[in-house]
Formats: sequence, C-alpha cells, structure tokens
Amino acid sequence: ILICLAASAVAKSLRQDDEAKAELERYIENKIPDINQRWRPHYHVAPPVGWMNDPNGFSYYNGEYHLFYQFYPYDSVWGPMHWGHVTSPDLVHWRQLPTALLPDEEQCFSGSAVQDGDTMVLMYTAHIVSDREPFYNETQYLAYSDDGVNFYKYGGNPVLPSAPNGSPDFRDPKVWRHGDHWYVILGSKTTDLRGRVLLYRSTDLKDWELLTVLAESQGDMGYMWECPDFFELDGKFILLMSPQGLAPQGDRYKNTHQNGYIIGSFNYETFEFVQEVPFQEIDFGHDFYAAQTTEVDGKRYLISWFSMWEVPHPEDVDGWAGMMTIVRELKLVNNKIIMKPVDEMVEIRQGVPIFNVLEFNEEVDFEQAVEINIEANFDEIVEIKLEGRDGGGHVVLSWDPLVGKVAVSRGAEDVRQVEWDPNNETSWRIFLDSSSIELFCGIGDVVFSSRVYPLGGWRLTNLSSQDIEIEAYNLKKSFPV
Ligand code: FRU
Repeated sequence: ILICLAASAVAKSLRQDDEAKAELERYIENKIPDINQRWRPHYHVAPPVGWMNDPNGFSYYNGEYHLFYQFYPYDSVWGPMHWGHVTSPDLVHWRQLPTALLPDEEQCFSGSAVQDGDTMVLMYTAHIVSDREPFYNETQYLAYSDDGVNFYKYGGNPVLPSAPNGSPDFRDPKVWRHGDHWYVILGSKTTDLRGRVLLYRSTDLKDWELLTVLAESQGDMGYMWECPDFFELDGKFILLMSPQGLAPQGDRYKNTHQNGYIIGSFNYETFEFVQEVPFQEIDFGHDFYAAQTTEVDGKRYLISWFSMWEVPHPEDVDGWAGMMTIVRELKLVNNKIIMKPVDEMVEIRQGVPIFNVLEFNEEVDFEQAVEINIEANFDEIVEIKLEGRDGGGHVVLSWDPLVGKVAVSRGAEDVRQVEWDPNNETSWRIFLDSSSIELFCGIGDVVFSSRVYPLGGWRLTNLSSQDIEIEAYNLKKSFPV
C-alpha cells in the first residue's frame, strides 16, 4: 500500500507539473499577438514573450541542435528563471519549443546539456532564495529527457550541494565528457571576493569529486566569474568566462560586465591549467555576455546573450527583452579566438545580391534584415553610418589606419573601439537585424555585437572620402520557423 501511495504521489506531482507547463504555454500563446513587432529579430533567437538572458544547454541531441535560455515569461524584465527552449537543424533556422524547466522551490539558473546514452541531461544551478543572510544559496540540479522536449527534474537533487568554501555564489555548471569521466566547471568566488572556477569529476553525473581550482583571480580579475566554459581549440585549452567587477581600462572593459577568455594548456592527469595568454575580450561590442559553446563534428560553435546587464532594453515596452547573437564558429589564430558566422548563414540570403559603389555621402536603403559585405581600402579611413530610414537609433562604424582602431559608435559617449590589424584584408561583413548589428572585421579577429534600435529599415551612408563597394543580401525570416 505504501509503495502504491508513494507511486501515486509521484504521478500526481508529475501531472501537476504537466498542468503548470500547459498553462504556461497557453499564457505564452495568448500573449504573442500583443507583441509589437517593430524590433523583433528576423533571424536571431528571442523570447516569444518576456525576458531572455544567458544561453544554456547549447548542445546536439537526436539529430538537432538544442539551445535553452534563461527565460522569464511574465514580464520583459528579469524574474524567477525558467529555461526556454529552441531547436535547429542547422544553427540558423530555429523552432520554438515548450518551456523546458519551470521554477519550483528553486529558480532555474544557467547550466548546460549533455547526452548520456539515449537521455538528454541538463545540469543547472538551483538558485534558492531565503530570508536569512546571504539571502540565497546555489546548488546544482539535474533534469532528464528521453525525447528532447519534455524534461523531468531528478528526484535526488541536489547533486552538488555547495561550494567548498561555502560561498553562496556557485553557479553555471558546464559539463563535458572526456574518456571515462564527466567533468564540470562552475563559476564561484573566494571568501575575499576574487572570481574563480572550480573543476569536478564524476562517473554518473550524480556523485561529484572536487579536483581543483582551475583558475582564480589574483585580485585584478573581478569578484565573480560567471558562466565558465572550458574546451580545446586548435591544440590549446580555452577558459571562456564572464567576469564581474573589472574596472574599465582605456578602451577595455567598458560594458557592465565582460566576456572573454584565457588561453593555456591543460593536463587531464594533474588537472593543472597552465595559463599562457592572459584574459582577452572575445567580442568588442556593447551587448555580449555569458557566451556558451558546443562542439559538433569537430567544430566549435559559440552563441551569446546579445544584451547586457543594467542597460536599457528599449524593446521592453513592446513585451519582450533580450535576444541571442548569431552562431559563430571558432578558430584560434595567433593566440586570438577568431569568430566567423556559421557557413549556413548563407542559406537565409534571399533574392539576387544588391551591388552598389557608394561615393562620399551617398546612401542606400535596406530592409530590416540584411547582410552587407563592404570592400574598401583599409590603408585609408573607412566610415559608414547606419540609421533608421524613419529615424530611431543609429550607429557609426569607422576605421582609422593612423590610429589602428575600429570603432562602433552609438553616440559620442557610447563608443566601443579596439586595435585591429587588417593584414591585407579588404572587407567587413555586417549582419543587420531589426534591432542589432554584428560586425565581423576581416577574418573575424575583431567582432562587435551591439544592439541598435532603428525605425523602418536601415539606411547606409558612406562617410569615407573613398568609394566603397557593397554586396548585400536581404535575409529571410529564420526564427521562429
Ligand atoms: C549571467 C547570470 C548567471 C546566472 C544567470 C541568472 O548572466 O547572472 O550567472 O546563472 O545569469 O539568470
């Protein structure tokens, strides 16, 4: 009888869970018609309604790419975290799936996904709020799925109850498999508030053994390292992470928080990560944080939250806030991560290419979603303005060979710039969507991702004294398909 009672209690709680999920999907469906479309992206992933932050669980399962994300459906501001879910056959066309995780006693903070046998396993941070100092605690939970659509939380949670030093900040597990073991890294901090990353190992994803502190700030790298990722790239190991609390230094570290990487070597016998190249930012735009990667068929792909903490999100009045960047393929060249839009991006080009040669002050109009390739002589100044055909936001992209920097300016006080070596490259590749610009310079050694809010499509004006050549493509809608 006891067993029957217990089984029916489990069945009942699963049914309640399913009912809560169904109710949420009905809420989302009903809200979608209210969303103002003016700044909705055509080919970037965005929340159907409400708020989005970090990418989570970027992975490949059952023949499809999966992407989850930090999601709050009920308002276009951050709130108790759910995991939203989209899938794609090609990293370009994305389908909206039902919300994968709903909060219970815990908020479902960031984490990752792996395939264990036929099962998809999510490992995420359970952020549990309390009324006593420090007012929250973070432990790690698992959730399972046998179909990549419906997820059930593991009954034995938490699997990693606390940080070794008791820090309440212990989050964003990134899991991977190497040999006979699972490994996970987590972002945390020392008791004297220096960011650090911890490395654990397991044979079953449930029992974890602390191996080492993979890396930590020596006092100059911020108070907390969020969203760590660790992977091999072209023979080196990369520790990618999002440090909080870096003070601005000249052109560097001008966003609320930063996202970048340390290059080194790693030994799976000693677990020692020997740092060879210090922290560098990975993207130089205004809006890029909490990037996550996955490897499929030997290619390393990255996607990032295309927003930033503590900045205005003008789209919030339209019923949504936050989106993802396009997916980029990574390579390591001369101790720098190179980011290139995935090859499949050409699949959403539509119609014939639009060719133009623009003289000084000449302009050309585009739709909201367009890819623009610019050929110019980078021995001279290159300067391009992109603005709304009906007003709204604008951005100026510029290159000055005497200064040796590329700059992306949304206004005098809102500039991001960085050194670039064109190294005989003559082109820039620009992806514009209804509220974003991604600029890939040359081979992708310098990339800027910034949100801009034009009205009524884009107008490009050549502000350089040289002629520039343009080859552009209107882009099809690829989210949601
Ligand atoms: C990073 C982050 C993570 C956390 C999540 C909460 O942007 O702060 O550390 O898991 O967002 O939404």
